[in-house]
Amino acid sequence: MPKVGLMLLLVSMLVAAVPRHVNAAITCEEVTYYLIPCISYGIFGGTVTPSYCTGIKTLDAAAKTTEDRREKCNCVKEGAARIPGLNYTRVNEIPGLLGTTCPYKVTSDVDCSKVN
Ligand SMILES: *[C@@H]1O[C@H](CO)[C@@H](O)[C@H](O)[C@H]1NC(C)=O
Repeated sequence: MPKVGLMLLLVSMLVAAVPRHVNAAITCEEVTYYLIPCISYGIFGGTVTPSYCTGIKTLDAAAKTTEDRREKCNCVKEGAARIPGLNYTRVNEIPGLLGTTCPYKVTSDVDCSKVN
């Protein structure tokens, strides 16, 4: 299957599978939406340019409270767990490539309740 087709399949699986949280300022739908352009780097590698994945910065700016950041962490963790072949090493390189930072490492068992 061509990469683009695979990507679309993965993205539609993600969007369909992400649980609905309606109370937090940041929803998983938003997190997923902003991170979609970053997913292909996490799986296939390649070149990330800032314009390609600026959703990460948008999300950083939107996550103003500890609760928002924990919610975002949970969304990222749950979303990432559904992506077959995702390379967590590369996922954790993305903030650095974009000149931003992520206060925790994204892993399949990151403890989001410790995010501040
Ligand atoms: C994950 O990505 C890193 C950095 O690009 C690479 O060194 C490593 O071989 C990759 N691991 C797998 C399982 O593909």
